Amino acid sequence: MSLVPIGEPRHKITVASLREKKLHHEPITCLTAYDYSSARLIDEAGIDIVLVGDSLAQTMLGYENTLSVTLDEMLHHTRAVHRGVKHALLVADMPFGSYQADLNDAIRNAARFVKEAGAEVVKIEGGEKRADLIRRIIDAEIPVAGHIGLTPQSVNVMGGYKVQGKNLSGVEQLMRDAVALDRAGVALIVLEGIPREVAAMITAEVETPTIGIGAGPDCDGQVLVFHDILNLSFGHPAKFVRRYANVGAAITGAVQAFRADVAARQYPSDEESYHLPKETRSALDTVLERKRAMRR
Ligand code: KIV
Repeated sequence: MSLVPIGEPRHKITVASLREKKLHHEPITCLTAYDYSSARLIDEAGIDIVLVGDSLAQTMLGYENTLSVTLDEMLHHTRAVHRGVKHALLVADMPFGSYQADLNDAIRNAARFVKEAGAEVVKIEGGEKRADLIRRIIDAEIPVAGHIGLTPQSVNVMGGYKVQGKNLSGVEQLMRDAVALDRAGVALIVLEGIPREVAAMITAEVETPTIGIGAGPDCDGQVLVFHDILNLSFGHPAKFVRRYANVGAAITGAVQAFRADVAARQYPSDEESYHLPKETRSALDTVLERKRAMRR
């Protein structure tokens, strides 16, 4: 495995280099990002893929689920992320409603992510039933990422966020979905919320790199939501989430300390204040002294 040490020159990650990584059994790393500063930190830390996930509906915008986020909101966040990314492959989620209704609309909307926001790949949820649409978008020179298993945009159809592919027909459907996406020529396939065994079978079956989230360790790569690894999200984490830091608590601590300092007039100190230049200060003193003398 070739992990480029932090600070060393890095190559730009492309769709082709992801395939290379799969061929050489090099794990692929992916995190979500929704703004400039997080994108820049993630990119500079050497992550391969930055995903502007529609999970920003919840993490950034406070919506209940991903269904409400609009195309314009996704474009706005993708532009910000683009400004922070130099080396990682930039993938953006097409939001619910932006590709389901009409083929030409879907192509036009996908093109907006590339043209207006700098995305290199657009991600679409769904397998077999989206294969034709995905082929058409790829024909329009726009690389597409697939996403199968627990697809959050189908929450109302699935009746909640449930692990998929637990019975035989579910497993067979997932295999068909993965093969259909592979044949359509997607750049990568996100496998979300499926049993480890099924993810391993899919990964062995398809040439496309698989990126798992709640799909076990046998995928070609792993993705997690930025806010989840930092413990910046609210509510109970899913089973697969690993917390790498407690940023939520650090923010609360910092905000409370600022509040206490201001309340106690401990902030700002004299060192944290600007001062008049010497000459202005003495000129001002002279003016004030003159005024005082006139009042006497
Ligand atoms: O929106 C999202 O964050 C995703 C994931 C794969 C994490 O689609």
